[in-house]
Amino acid sequence: MKDKVILITGANSGIGRATAERLAEMGTTVVMSARHEKRGEKARAQIVRRTGNDRVDLLIADLSTRDGIRSLADQFRAKYDRLDVLINNAGLMTNKRRETPEGFELQFFVNHLAYFMLTQLLIDMLRDSAPARIVNVASTAHSRGHLNFDDLQGKENYAGWQMYGNTKLANIVFTYELARRLENSGVTANCVHPGVVGTNLMRQYNFFLNLIWGALRVFFKKPEEGAETPAYLATSPEVADVRGKYFRYCRPFGTTEESNDRDVQRRLWEASIEMTGLDNIPA
Ligand SMILES: NC(=O)c1ccc[n+]([C@@H]2O[C@H](COP(=O)([O-])OP(=O)(O)OC[C@H]3O[C@@H](n4cnc5c(N)ncnc54)[C@H](OP(=O)(O)O)[C@@H]3O)[C@@H](O)[C@H]2O)c1
Repeated sequence: MKDKVILITGANSGIGRATAERLAEMGTTVVMSARHEKRGEKARAQIVRRTGNDRVDLLIADLSTRDGIRSLADQFRAKYDRLDVLINNAGLMTNKRRETPEGFELQFFVNHLAYFMLTQLLIDMLRDSAPARIVNVASTAHSRGHLNFDDLQGKENYAGWQMYGNTKLANIVFTYELARRLENSGVTANCVHPGVVGTNLMRQYNFFLNLIWGALRVFFKKPEEGAETPAYLATSPEVADVRGKYFRYCRPFGTTEESNDRDVQRRLWEASIEMTGLDNIPA
């Protein structure tokens, strides 16, 4: 793994941070992305100290705007000439409907469109570095999700919990379509449920639920346990040729009927192209 370069988003906290540490332990070059310099640098320095791997880098980008995502891709290209694994992990939960500066619903943008857009922007580097991998961090919460193509932005009857489920369904639907489009490219795409993990995910949710989540943390998996399956998909030779699968506990699992619907997969892809203006991965 020593010559591999891995980019992971949302790497200053929770599952992303723990996955970055696990990968750094293996000796890879780990490029962490975070939106706050201070939080990101604190995590980076800690990982370097704990693993003794000084090839752990930090790029700063807010993934809630198209410019922010472009900036991350540009910063990465300016410093690296290969990308072996892209781990789309950054995400959030919020109970109130919030919009990005460009008018997108926040969860839909960060949890789905940022995955879609960053993958589109870096796909040529992944292809050139093949065999390469894409790992999308989804969730079992996808099972309560539904993609209403008349209202993907949740303008009507918004419920944060429901929108989160919709975006995690979108991660899986996106992965299945992506894997098919990359079939003969040497680039695989898979997605993962990391488990229920005691992280900061509820930080932007309402005060009481965040409080309850915090109190229940002791019963949840630790971030290091949550990192197991993402790190496995990113590095294990066992899954070198596996594509278009959803993993839990390092094993493939089935997903909902809606996620497997080819028409839903095609429609989400087309809607995502329309919203991001990017189409670098033809069918
Ligand atoms: N925890 C669970 O039980 C669980 C279960 C299933 C799936 N997941 C998924 O796991 C992934 C990681 O979540 P986590 O549980 O580790 O939560 P977390 O501790 O809150 O980590 C989320 C990461 O995403 C970053 N992020 C959020 N909004 C961003 C933005 N606009 N731009 C850039 N980065 C942004 C956060 O940065 P800041 O620290 O700056 O906010 C943080 O680094 C998510 O995709 C989540 O859906 C989690």
